[in-house]
Amino acid sequence: MVSGMAQTARGRVIDSLAVQGTMKICIVGAGYVGLATGVMFAKLGNEVTCADIDESRVRSVSSGMLPFHEPALEKELAKAVKSGNIKATVKTVDAAKGSHAVFICVQTPSLPSGKIDIRPVKTASRAVARAIRGSDDHKLIVMKSTVVPTTTDAVVRPLLERLSGKLAGRDFSLCMNPEFLQEGSALNDSMKPSRIVIGADDKRSGYELARLYRQVKAPIVRTDIRSAEMIKYASNVFLATKITYANEIANICARLGIDSEPVLAAAGMDPRIGSLFLKPGLGFGGSCLPKDVKALRDGALREGYKPRLLTALLATNDSQPNEAIRMLEKSIGDLRGKKIAVLGLAFKGGVDDIRETRALPLVTSLLAKGALVTAFDPMAMPNFIRIMPTIRYAESAGDCLKGSDGCIVQADWPEFKRLGKKEFSSMRRPVVVDGRRCLDPRKVRASGATYLGIGYGLAER
Ligand SMILES: NC(=O)c1ccc[n+]([C@@H]2O[C@H](COP(=O)([O-])OP(=O)(O)OC[C@H]3O[C@@H](n4cnc5c(N)ncnc54)[C@H](O)[C@@H]3O)[C@@H](O)[C@H]2O)c1
Repeated sequence: MVSGMAQTARGRVIDSLAVQGTMKICIVGAGYVGLATGVMFAKLGNEVTCADIDESRVRSVSSGMLPFHEPALEKELAKAVKSGNIKATVKTVDAAKGSHAVFICVQTPSLPSGKIDIRPVKTASRAVARAIRGSDDHKLIVMKSTVVPTTTDAVVRPLLERLSGKLAGRDFSLCMNPEFLQEGSALNDSMKPSRIVIGADDKRSGYELARLYRQVKAPIVRTDIRSAEMIKYASNVFLATKITYANEIANICARLGIDSEPVLAAAGMDPRIGSLFLKPGLGFGGSCLPKDVKALRDGALREGYKPRLLTALLATNDSQPNEAIRMLEKSIGDLRGKKIAVLGLAFKGGVDDIRETRALPLVTSLLAKGALVTAFDPMAMPNFIRIMPTIRYAESAGDCLKGSDGCIVQADWPEFKRLGKKEFSSMRRPVVVDGRRCLDPRKVRASGATYLGIGYGLAER
Protein backbone atom coordinates (compact mmCIF):
# COMPACT_ATOMS: atom_id res chain seq x y z
CA MET A 1 0.00 0.00 0.00
CA VAL A 2 2.80 2.40 0.90
CA SER A 3 4.62 1.87 -2.42
CA GLY A 4 1.37 2.56 -4.30
CA MET A 5 0.92 5.82 -2.49
CA ALA A 6 4.52 6.74 -3.22
CA GLN A 7 3.42 7.33 -6.83
CA THR A 8 1.21 10.26 -5.84
CA ALA A 9 2.43 13.83 -5.94
CA ARG A 10 2.09 14.04 -2.15
CA GLY A 11 4.07 10.86 -1.69
CA ARG A 12 6.92 12.16 -3.78
CA VAL A 13 7.55 15.05 -1.39
CA ILE A 14 8.50 12.79 1.45
CA ASP A 15 10.15 10.17 -0.77
CA SER A 16 12.49 12.78 -2.19
CA LEU A 17 13.53 13.70 1.35
CA ALA A 18 14.13 10.07 2.22
CA VAL A 19 16.25 9.33 -0.85
CA GLN A 20 18.53 12.18 0.05
CA GLY A 21 19.77 9.63 2.56
CA THR A 22 18.30 10.64 5.85
CA MET A 23 15.30 12.29 7.41
CA LYS A 24 15.89 15.04 9.92
CA ILE A 25 13.85 14.29 13.00
CA CYS A 26 13.31 16.49 16.02
CA ILE A 27 12.26 14.92 19.30
CA VAL A 28 10.74 17.35 21.79
CA GLY A 29 11.25 15.93 25.30
CA ALA A 30 14.32 13.79 26.00
CA GLY A 31 12.73 11.38 28.48
CA TYR A 32 12.16 7.61 28.23
CA VAL A 33 9.86 7.88 25.22
CA GLY A 34 11.70 10.71 23.48
CA LEU A 35 15.13 9.11 23.79
CA ALA A 36 13.95 5.61 22.88
CA THR A 37 12.20 7.05 19.80
CA GLY A 38 15.18 9.25 18.96
CA VAL A 39 17.76 6.49 19.31
CA MET A 40 15.58 4.14 17.26
CA PHE A 41 15.33 6.64 14.39
CA ALA A 42 19.07 7.38 14.67
CA LYS A 43 19.86 3.65 14.48
CA LEU A 44 17.74 3.50 11.34
CA GLY A 45 20.02 6.10 9.75
CA ASN A 46 18.16 9.34 10.37
CA GLU A 47 19.59 12.59 11.78
CA VAL A 48 17.97 13.18 15.15
CA THR A 49 17.96 16.25 17.36
CA CYS A 50 16.54 15.87 20.86
CA ALA A 51 15.25 19.14 22.30
CA ASP A 52 14.61 19.50 26.01
CA ILE A 53 14.07 22.44 28.36
CA ASP A 54 16.25 20.78 31.00
CA GLU A 55 19.84 21.91 30.38
CA SER A 56 21.46 19.20 32.49
CA ARG A 57 19.51 16.56 30.54
CA VAL A 58 20.70 18.09 27.28
CA ARG A 59 24.32 18.05 28.51
CA SER A 60 23.96 14.43 29.59
CA VAL A 61 22.42 13.30 26.26
CA SER A 62 25.03 15.27 24.29
CA SER A 63 27.76 13.30 26.01
CA GLY A 64 26.03 9.98 25.28
CA MET A 65 24.80 9.46 28.84
CA LEU A 66 21.22 8.83 29.85
CA PRO A 67 19.61 10.80 32.66
CA PHE A 68 18.01 7.54 33.89
CA HIS A 69 18.86 3.84 34.19
CA GLU A 70 18.21 2.04 30.89
CA PRO A 71 21.49 0.28 29.97
CA ALA A 72 20.62 -1.01 26.47
CA LEU A 73 19.33 2.40 25.41
CA GLU A 74 22.38 4.13 26.86
CA LYS A 75 24.74 1.92 24.90
CA GLU A 76 23.02 2.77 21.62
CA LEU A 77 22.72 6.46 22.56
CA ALA A 78 26.49 6.61 23.06
CA LYS A 79 27.02 5.02 19.63
CA ALA A 80 24.56 7.40 17.96
CA VAL A 81 26.19 10.45 19.59
CA LYS A 82 29.62 9.24 18.46
CA SER A 83 28.45 8.70 14.88
CA GLY A 84 26.85 12.15 14.88
CA ASN A 85 23.33 10.76 14.30
CA ILE A 86 21.99 12.27 17.54
CA LYS A 87 22.45 15.72 18.98
CA ALA A 88 20.72 17.43 21.88
CA THR A 89 19.77 21.05 22.36
CA VAL A 90 17.68 23.38 24.49
CA LYS A 91 16.69 25.31 21.37
CA THR A 92 13.44 23.54 20.49
CA VAL A 93 12.27 26.05 17.87
CA ASP A 94 15.54 25.87 15.93
CA ALA A 95 15.69 22.09 16.15
CA ALA A 96 12.09 21.75 14.93
CA LYS A 97 12.66 24.33 12.18
CA GLY A 98 15.53 22.30 10.77
CA SER A 99 13.62 19.00 10.79
CA HIS A 100 11.24 17.19 8.46
CA ALA A 101 9.37 15.51 11.30
CA VAL A 102 8.81 16.59 14.90
CA PHE A 103 7.72 14.18 17.66
CA ILE A 104 6.19 15.69 20.81
CA CYS A 105 7.24 13.36 23.65
CA VAL A 106 6.89 15.53 26.75
CA GLN A 107 5.47 14.27 30.04
CA THR A 108 1.72 14.35 30.85
CA PRO A 109 1.62 13.77 34.62
CA SER A 110 -1.47 13.54 36.83
CA LEU A 111 -2.91 16.60 38.54
CA PRO A 112 -4.35 15.96 42.02
CA SER A 113 -7.83 15.57 40.42
CA GLY A 114 -6.52 12.73 38.22
CA LYS A 115 -6.78 14.89 35.11
CA ILE A 116 -3.55 15.05 33.08
CA ASP A 117 -1.45 18.17 33.21
CA ILE A 118 -1.14 19.25 29.60
CA ARG A 119 0.94 22.36 30.27
CA PRO A 120 4.15 20.67 28.96
CA VAL A 121 2.24 19.62 25.80
CA LYS A 122 1.01 23.18 25.31
CA THR A 123 4.49 24.69 25.77
CA ALA A 124 5.99 22.16 23.37
CA SER A 125 3.20 22.78 20.81
CA ARG A 126 3.81 26.54 20.96
CA ALA A 127 7.51 26.02 20.22
CA VAL A 128 6.69 23.67 17.32
CA ALA A 129 4.15 26.21 15.98
CA ARG A 130 6.85 28.90 15.93
CA ALA A 131 9.08 26.51 13.99
CA ILE A 132 6.33 25.81 11.42
CA ARG A 133 5.67 29.54 11.04
CA GLY A 134 9.31 30.24 10.36
CA SER A 135 9.89 27.58 7.70
CA ASP A 136 8.72 27.02 4.14
CA ASP A 137 8.72 23.24 4.02
CA HIS A 138 5.83 20.91 4.84
CA LYS A 139 6.52 19.36 8.24
CA LEU A 140 5.13 16.26 9.87
CA ILE A 141 4.13 16.88 13.50
CA VAL A 142 3.55 13.78 15.64
CA MET A 143 1.92 13.71 19.08
CA LYS A 144 3.50 10.84 20.98
CA SER A 145 2.75 11.91 24.55
CA THR A 146 -0.22 10.08 26.06
CA VAL A 147 -3.18 12.45 26.02
CA VAL A 148 -6.88 11.84 26.66
CA PRO A 149 -9.03 11.61 23.53
CA THR A 150 -9.78 14.95 21.88
CA THR A 151 -6.66 16.67 23.32
CA THR A 152 -4.78 16.66 20.00
CA ASP A 153 -7.84 18.05 18.19
CA ALA A 154 -8.96 20.47 20.88
CA VAL A 155 -5.60 21.73 22.18
CA VAL A 156 -2.59 20.77 20.04
CA ARG A 157 -4.04 21.37 16.56
CA PRO A 158 -5.52 24.84 17.39
CA LEU A 159 -2.26 25.93 19.03
CA LEU A 160 -0.21 24.77 16.05
CA GLU A 161 -2.57 26.42 13.57
CA ARG A 162 -3.14 29.67 15.40
CA LEU A 163 0.49 30.37 16.21
CA SER A 164 1.85 29.27 12.83
CA GLY A 165 -0.89 30.79 10.69
CA LYS A 166 -0.98 27.48 8.79
CA LEU A 167 -3.50 24.67 8.44
CA ALA A 168 -3.05 21.07 9.59
CA GLY A 169 -3.61 18.64 6.73
CA ARG A 170 -2.80 21.33 4.17
CA ASP A 171 0.36 23.20 5.22
CA PHE A 172 1.69 20.64 7.67
CA SER A 173 0.88 17.04 8.57
CA LEU A 174 -0.44 16.05 11.98
CA CYS A 175 -0.55 12.55 13.51
CA MET A 176 -1.15 10.93 16.86
CA ASN A 177 1.22 8.00 17.44
CA PRO A 178 0.90 6.51 20.95
CA GLU A 179 3.88 4.75 22.51
CA PHE A 180 3.66 1.32 24.17
CA LEU A 181 7.23 0.77 25.42
CA GLN A 182 7.99 -0.56 28.89
CA GLU A 183 10.76 0.92 31.00
CA GLY A 184 13.59 -1.59 31.35
CA SER A 185 13.25 -2.64 27.69
CA ALA A 186 12.56 0.77 26.14
CA LEU A 187 14.75 0.55 23.04
CA ASN A 188 13.87 -3.04 22.21
CA ASP A 189 10.16 -2.23 22.56
CA SER A 190 10.57 0.78 20.25
CA MET A 191 12.53 -1.19 17.64
CA LYS A 192 10.19 -4.18 17.78
CA PRO A 193 6.77 -2.86 18.76
CA SER A 194 3.72 -5.13 18.88
CA ARG A 195 1.97 -2.58 16.65
CA ILE A 196 2.44 0.93 15.34
CA VAL A 197 -0.70 3.00 15.74
CA ILE A 198 -0.94 5.88 13.30
CA GLY A 199 -3.79 8.26 13.98
CA ALA A 200 -4.36 10.82 11.25
CA ASP A 201 -7.34 12.75 9.98
CA ASP A 202 -6.02 13.10 6.43
CA LYS A 203 -4.30 10.67 4.06
CA ARG A 204 -1.05 12.52 3.60
CA SER A 205 -0.29 12.84 7.30
CA GLY A 206 -0.81 9.13 7.90
CA TYR A 207 1.17 8.20 4.83
CA GLU A 208 4.15 10.32 5.86
CA LEU A 209 4.34 8.77 9.30
CA ALA A 210 3.98 5.23 7.90
CA ARG A 211 6.84 6.08 5.52
CA LEU A 212 9.01 7.17 8.43
CA TYR A 213 8.39 3.82 10.15
CA ARG A 214 8.97 1.79 6.98
CA GLN A 215 12.06 -0.01 8.35
CA VAL A 216 10.33 -1.06 11.58
CA LYS A 217 8.72 -4.47 11.18
CA ALA A 218 5.36 -4.32 12.94
CA PRO A 219 1.69 -4.31 12.02
CA ILE A 220 0.48 -0.80 11.33
CA VAL A 221 -2.93 0.23 12.63
CA ARG A 222 -4.34 3.26 10.83
CA THR A 223 -7.03 5.23 12.63
CA ASP A 224 -8.23 8.76 13.13
CA ILE A 225 -6.50 10.90 15.77
CA ARG A 226 -9.07 10.41 18.56
CA SER A 227 -9.07 6.62 18.21
CA ALA A 228 -5.26 6.58 18.38
CA GLU A 229 -5.43 8.53 21.65
CA MET A 230 -8.04 6.10 22.98
CA ILE A 231 -6.08 2.97 21.96
CA LYS A 232 -3.32 3.94 24.42
CA TYR A 233 -5.80 4.24 27.29
CA ALA A 234 -7.68 1.07 26.28
CA SER A 235 -4.35 -0.79 26.37
CA ASN A 236 -3.11 0.54 29.70
CA VAL A 237 -6.46 0.13 31.43
CA PHE A 238 -6.50 -3.50 30.35
CA LEU A 239 -2.99 -4.06 31.74
CA ALA A 240 -3.98 -2.39 35.02
CA THR A 241 -7.10 -4.57 35.12
CA LYS A 242 -5.07 -7.73 34.59
CA ILE A 243 -2.66 -6.85 37.38
CA THR A 244 -5.52 -5.96 39.71
CA TYR A 245 -7.38 -9.16 38.83
CA ALA A 246 -4.24 -11.18 39.68
CA ASN A 247 -3.89 -9.34 42.99
CA GLU A 248 -7.52 -9.81 43.93
CA ILE A 249 -7.42 -13.54 43.14
CA ALA A 250 -4.13 -13.78 45.09
CA ASN A 251 -5.60 -11.98 48.12
CA ILE A 252 -8.57 -14.37 48.18
CA CYS A 253 -6.25 -17.39 47.68
CA ALA A 254 -4.10 -16.26 50.62
CA ARG A 255 -7.14 -16.29 52.91
CA LEU A 256 -8.28 -19.71 51.67
CA GLY A 257 -4.96 -21.47 52.12
CA ILE A 258 -4.31 -21.67 48.38
CA ASP A 259 -1.12 -20.70 46.55
CA SER A 260 -2.23 -18.21 43.89
CA GLU A 261 0.76 -18.76 41.61
CA PRO A 262 -0.27 -22.10 40.07
CA VAL A 263 -3.89 -20.90 40.07
CA LEU A 264 -3.03 -17.82 38.01
CA ALA A 265 -0.59 -19.74 35.81
CA ALA A 266 -3.31 -22.25 34.90
CA ALA A 267 -5.89 -19.50 34.37
CA GLY A 268 -3.43 -17.73 32.09
CA MET A 269 -3.04 -20.82 29.90
CA ASP A 270 -6.44 -20.01 28.45
CA PRO A 271 -5.57 -17.97 25.35
CA ARG A 272 -8.54 -15.71 26.10
CA ILE A 273 -6.77 -14.73 29.35
CA GLY A 274 -3.05 -14.98 28.50
CA SER A 275 -0.22 -15.55 30.96
CA LEU A 276 1.56 -12.17 30.97
CA PHE A 277 0.92 -9.62 33.75
CA LEU A 278 -0.74 -12.26 35.94
CA LYS A 279 1.76 -12.27 38.80
CA PRO A 280 0.54 -11.23 42.23
CA GLY A 281 2.32 -8.22 43.68
CA LEU A 282 1.96 -4.97 45.57
CA GLY A 283 0.04 -3.20 42.82
CA PHE A 284 0.80 -1.30 39.65
CA GLY A 285 2.96 1.80 39.72
CA GLY A 286 5.23 3.66 37.33
CA SER A 287 4.77 6.70 35.18
CA CYS A 288 1.91 5.32 33.09
CA LEU A 289 -0.66 2.88 34.48
CA PRO A 290 -1.87 4.81 37.57
CA LYS A 291 -1.92 8.14 35.76
CA ASP A 292 -3.62 6.74 32.66
CA VAL A 293 -6.36 4.98 34.64
CA LYS A 294 -6.95 8.21 36.60
CA ALA A 295 -6.99 10.33 33.44
CA LEU A 296 -9.49 8.10 31.66
CA ARG A 297 -11.69 8.02 34.76
CA ASP A 298 -11.58 11.81 34.93
CA GLY A 299 -12.33 12.09 31.20
CA ALA A 300 -15.28 9.68 31.48
CA LEU A 301 -16.73 11.55 34.49
CA ARG A 302 -16.51 14.80 32.53
CA GLU A 303 -18.59 13.17 29.81
CA GLY A 304 -21.22 12.18 32.40
CA TYR A 305 -20.25 8.49 32.52
CA LYS A 306 -19.41 6.78 35.83
CA PRO A 307 -16.53 4.37 35.11
CA ARG A 308 -17.09 1.93 38.00
CA LEU A 309 -14.37 -0.49 36.90
CA LEU A 310 -11.72 2.25 36.76
CA THR A 311 -12.68 3.49 40.23
CA ALA A 312 -12.47 -0.07 41.59
CA LEU A 313 -9.07 -0.61 39.95
CA LEU A 314 -7.60 2.43 41.65
CA ALA A 315 -9.10 1.63 45.06
CA THR A 316 -7.91 -2.01 44.94
CA ASN A 317 -4.46 -0.91 43.83
CA ASP A 318 -4.21 1.65 46.63
CA SER A 319 -4.82 -0.97 49.30
CA GLN A 320 -2.56 -3.66 47.82
CA PRO A 321 0.68 -2.67 49.66
CA ASN A 322 -1.24 -3.27 52.90
CA GLU A 323 -1.41 -6.98 52.01
CA ALA A 324 2.33 -7.26 52.62
CA ILE A 325 2.03 -5.41 55.92
CA ARG A 326 -0.88 -7.64 56.99
CA MET A 327 1.22 -10.75 56.28
CA LEU A 328 4.16 -9.36 58.24
CA GLU A 329 1.94 -8.44 61.21
CA LYS A 330 0.41 -11.92 61.22
CA SER A 331 3.88 -13.34 61.55
CA ILE A 332 5.69 -10.92 63.87
CA GLY A 333 2.81 -9.05 65.55
CA ASP A 334 2.61 -5.32 66.24
CA LEU A 335 5.14 -3.41 64.15
CA ARG A 336 5.70 -0.60 66.67
CA GLY A 337 9.43 -0.28 67.34
CA LYS A 338 10.27 -3.17 64.99
CA LYS A 339 13.05 -2.82 62.44
CA ILE A 340 11.67 -3.51 58.97
CA ALA A 341 13.84 -3.86 55.88
CA VAL A 342 12.30 -2.75 52.57
CA LEU A 343 14.10 -4.13 49.53
CA GLY A 344 13.41 -2.32 46.26
CA LEU A 345 12.18 1.26 45.97
CA ALA A 346 11.74 1.66 42.20
CA PHE A 347 8.28 0.97 40.78
CA LYS A 348 9.75 -2.30 39.48
CA GLY A 349 13.11 -4.04 39.34
CA GLY A 350 15.63 -2.98 36.70
CA VAL A 351 14.75 0.73 36.64
CA ASP A 352 15.44 3.80 38.78
CA ASP A 353 12.03 5.38 38.14
CA ILE A 354 10.08 5.97 41.35
CA ARG A 355 7.02 7.60 39.81
CA GLU A 356 3.95 6.12 41.57
CA THR A 357 6.13 3.41 43.13
CA ARG A 358 4.26 1.23 45.63
CA ALA A 359 7.27 1.70 47.91
CA LEU A 360 5.93 5.11 48.90
CA PRO A 361 2.56 3.99 50.32
CA LEU A 362 4.27 0.88 51.74
CA VAL A 363 6.93 2.80 53.66
CA THR A 364 4.40 5.47 54.70
CA SER A 365 2.09 2.80 56.19
CA LEU A 366 4.98 1.06 57.94
CA LEU A 367 6.05 4.35 59.52
CA ALA A 368 2.46 5.12 60.53
CA LYS A 369 2.44 1.79 62.40
CA GLY A 370 5.54 2.81 64.30
CA ALA A 371 8.01 0.59 62.41
CA LEU A 372 11.65 1.65 61.98
CA VAL A 373 12.30 1.36 58.26
CA THR A 374 15.63 0.70 56.55
CA ALA A 375 15.50 0.63 52.76
CA PHE A 376 17.70 -0.37 49.87
CA ASP A 377 17.46 -0.25 46.08
CA PRO A 378 20.33 -0.93 43.67
CA MET A 379 19.52 2.12 41.47
CA ALA A 380 16.52 4.10 42.72
CA MET A 381 17.81 5.17 46.15
CA PRO A 382 18.95 8.69 45.16
CA ASN A 383 15.51 9.39 43.64
CA PHE A 384 13.66 7.95 46.65
CA ILE A 385 15.78 9.85 49.18
CA ARG A 386 14.54 13.06 47.55
CA ILE A 387 10.90 12.24 48.35
CA MET A 388 11.53 10.48 51.67
CA PRO A 389 14.73 11.76 53.30
CA THR A 390 13.98 10.70 56.88
CA ILE A 391 14.22 6.89 56.84
CA ARG A 392 17.49 4.95 57.08
CA TYR A 393 19.09 3.81 53.84
CA ALA A 394 21.42 0.82 53.60
CA GLU A 395 24.48 0.35 51.41
CA SER A 396 23.50 -3.10 50.20
CA ALA A 397 20.64 -5.58 50.44
CA GLY A 398 22.66 -7.53 53.02
CA ASP A 399 23.27 -4.39 55.08
CA CYS A 400 19.53 -3.62 54.88
CA LEU A 401 18.58 -7.03 56.30
CA LYS A 402 21.11 -7.00 59.15
CA GLY A 403 19.40 -6.89 62.57
CA SER A 404 15.90 -6.48 61.11
CA ASP A 405 12.70 -8.01 62.51
CA GLY A 406 11.26 -8.63 59.09
CA CYS A 407 11.67 -7.77 55.44
CA ILE A 408 9.35 -6.82 52.58
CA VAL A 409 10.56 -7.21 48.99
CA GLN A 410 8.88 -4.42 47.05
CA ALA A 411 10.63 -4.57 43.63
CA ASP A 412 11.80 -7.60 41.66
CA TRP A 413 15.51 -6.79 41.23
CA PRO A 414 17.37 -9.90 39.97
CA GLU A 415 20.10 -9.43 42.61
CA PHE A 416 17.60 -10.04 45.41
CA LYS A 417 17.31 -13.62 44.11
CA ARG A 418 20.95 -14.14 45.01
CA LEU A 419 20.36 -13.40 48.72
CA GLY A 420 20.98 -16.50 50.82
CA LYS A 421 21.95 -17.85 54.22
CA LYS A 422 24.62 -15.22 54.89
CA GLU A 423 22.17 -12.34 54.50
CA PHE A 424 18.95 -13.86 55.90
CA SER A 425 20.67 -15.31 58.96
CA SER A 426 21.85 -11.80 59.86
CA MET A 427 18.21 -10.78 60.51
CA ARG A 428 17.13 -10.59 64.14
CA ARG A 429 13.86 -12.29 63.20
CA PRO A 430 14.19 -13.81 59.71
CA VAL A 431 10.72 -13.29 58.22
CA VAL A 432 10.60 -12.42 54.54
CA VAL A 433 7.45 -11.16 52.79
CA ASP A 434 8.07 -11.49 49.07
CA GLY A 435 5.80 -8.78 47.70
CA ARG A 436 6.67 -9.60 44.09
CA ARG A 437 7.04 -13.38 44.24
CA CYS A 438 10.56 -12.95 42.84
CA LEU A 439 12.64 -14.94 45.37
CA ASP A 440 13.15 -18.69 45.43
CA PRO A 441 11.11 -19.83 48.46
CA ARG A 442 13.24 -22.97 48.90
CA LYS A 443 16.45 -20.94 49.03
CA VAL A 444 14.97 -18.53 51.60
CA ARG A 445 13.66 -21.37 53.76
CA ALA A 446 16.94 -23.29 53.43
CA SER A 447 18.65 -20.28 55.00
CA GLY A 448 16.42 -20.70 58.06
CA ALA A 449 14.08 -17.80 57.27
CA THR A 450 10.28 -17.84 57.08
CA TYR A 451 9.14 -17.19 53.51
CA LEU A 452 5.77 -15.51 52.95
CA GLY A 453 4.98 -14.96 49.28
CA ILE A 454 2.19 -12.51 48.51
CA GLY A 455 -0.92 -14.49 47.58
CA TYR A 456 0.55 -17.62 49.14
CA GLY A 457 -2.04 -19.23 51.35
CA LEU A 458 0.03 -22.13 52.63
CA ALA A 459 2.05 -19.72 54.71
CA GLU A 460 -1.08 -18.50 56.49
CA ARG A 461 -2.34 -21.77 57.86
N1 LIG B 1 7.80 6.18 30.48
C1 LIG B 1 7.08 5.25 29.88
O1 LIG B 1 7.25 4.05 30.14
C2 LIG B 1 6.05 5.61 28.83
C3 LIG B 1 5.55 4.61 27.98
C4 LIG B 1 4.60 4.96 27.03
C5 LIG B 1 4.11 6.25 26.96
N2 LIG B 1 4.57 7.19 27.83
C6 LIG B 1 4.04 8.57 27.70
O2 LIG B 1 4.99 9.34 26.97
C7 LIG B 1 5.05 10.68 27.47
C8 LIG B 1 6.47 10.98 27.91
O3 LIG B 1 6.77 10.13 28.98
P1 LIG B 1 8.26 9.96 29.54
O4 LIG B 1 8.22 8.93 30.59
O5 LIG B 1 9.20 9.83 28.40
O6 LIG B 1 8.47 11.41 30.21
P2 LIG B 1 9.78 11.94 30.94
O7 LIG B 1 9.29 12.70 32.13
O8 LIG B 1 10.76 10.85 31.11
O9 LIG B 1 10.39 12.95 29.88
C9 LIG B 1 9.75 14.11 29.44
C10 LIG B 1 10.82 15.10 29.01
O10 LIG B 1 10.18 16.21 28.39
C11 LIG B 1 10.90 17.39 28.76
N3 LIG B 1 10.05 18.55 28.51
C12 LIG B 1 9.00 19.00 29.21
N4 LIG B 1 8.46 20.08 28.62
C13 LIG B 1 9.21 20.34 27.54
C14 LIG B 1 9.16 21.33 26.52
N5 LIG B 1 8.22 22.26 26.51
N6 LIG B 1 10.10 21.31 25.56
C15 LIG B 1 11.07 20.37 25.55
N7 LIG B 1 11.16 19.39 26.48
C16 LIG B 1 10.24 19.37 27.46
C17 LIG B 1 11.24 17.15 30.20
O11 LIG B 1 12.28 18.00 30.65
C18 LIG B 1 11.63 15.68 30.18
O12 LIG B 1 13.01 15.52 29.92
C19 LIG B 1 4.02 10.75 28.59
O13 LIG B 1 2.81 11.23 28.05
C20 LIG B 1 3.86 9.29 29.02
O14 LIG B 1 2.59 9.03 29.56
C21 LIG B 1 5.55 6.92 28.75
